[in-house]
Amino acid sequence: MDAEGSYKDVFTRVPEALIPAPTLTVLLKPQNQSRGKPVDALTALQTRTAAPRLVEPAPNAAELEQILKAGLRAPDHGMLRPWKFLLVEGEGRQKLAQMFVEATQPDTEERKQKLLTTPMRAPLIIVGVATVKEGKVRPNEQVCSVAAALQNMSVACHALGYASIWLTGGMCYDNRVKLGLGLKETDEIVGFLYVGTATVQERPVPQHNLADFVQRWPA
Ligand SMILES: Cc1cc2nc3c(=O)[nH]c(=O)nc-3n(C[C@H](O)[C@H](O)[C@H](O)COP(=O)(O)O)c2cc1C
Repeated sequence: MDAEGSYKDVFTRVPEALIPAPTLTVLLKPQNQSRGKPVDALTALQTRTAAPRLVEPAPNAAELEQILKAGLRAPDHGMLRPWKFLLVEGEGRQKLAQMFVEATQPDTEERKQKLLTTPMRAPLIIVGVATVKEGKVRPNEQVCSVAAALQNMSVACHALGYASIWLTGGMCYDNRVKLGLGLKETDEIVGFLYVGTATVQERPVPQHNLADFVQRWPA
C-alpha cells in the first residue's frame, strides 16, 4: 500500500463514479484491532469453511493488506500478472447492487430484489478479475491464477479469524456488468469473495476419504 493508502496495479477500487467518496478512504481506518493469533498455515488450509452470513467487522487495513499479499503469491504462468481485484465496501455495495440492476434490467421484482440484497451480505467484497492477455498462455490458465489468488485470500481471511464465501452467479458472466465495473469484455470475473465475520458457528469441516480422490499412477 502506498502513502496515500491506495493499492496500485493489481488492486483496483471500483471506479470512483460508483463509490461515494467516504468509502474510498476506508482502507486507512483500522476497524478491528485484535483477532487473536493467526493460526498456522496447515491448520488454516485444512479448516477453512465457507460462511454464508457475514457481518462487521471486516478485516482492518493492516489485515486486508496481509490478505491481499497472500493473494498475490498465486502461481502465474508466464508472470503475466493477469490479476485485478476490486474492493467493494460500505456504500459501494449499494452502488454495486444498483449497477447490477441497471446493467441487467431484471424482468421480475423478485430478481431485482435478489440483485439489490446480494451485495449486502458481507461488509467487504473482493471481486477477482482475470485481465486475460493474448499470447501463449491460455486464458484458462490465467483464470486459474486468479482462482488461486482468491483461494489464498480466503484462507488468509480464515487464518486471521475472519470468514468468507466465494460466489459467482450470472453477474460474473454478463458483459454489461463487466462494463459497469470498468472492465473489458475480454476480462473474466472469476468470483466475488464475500468477506467478514461469521454470524454462526462455522460448520464442521467435511472429512474426506483421501482414497476417494487420490490414487497412485501407475497403480
Ligand atoms: C468458482 C466457484 C464458484 C462458486 N460459486 C458459488 C455460488 O455462486 N453459489 C454458492 O452457493 N456457492 C458457490 N461456490 C461454493 C462456495 O464458495 C463454497 O465452496 C461451498 O458453499 C462449500 O463450502 P466449503 O467451501 O466450506 O466447502 C463457488 C465455489 C467456487 C470455487
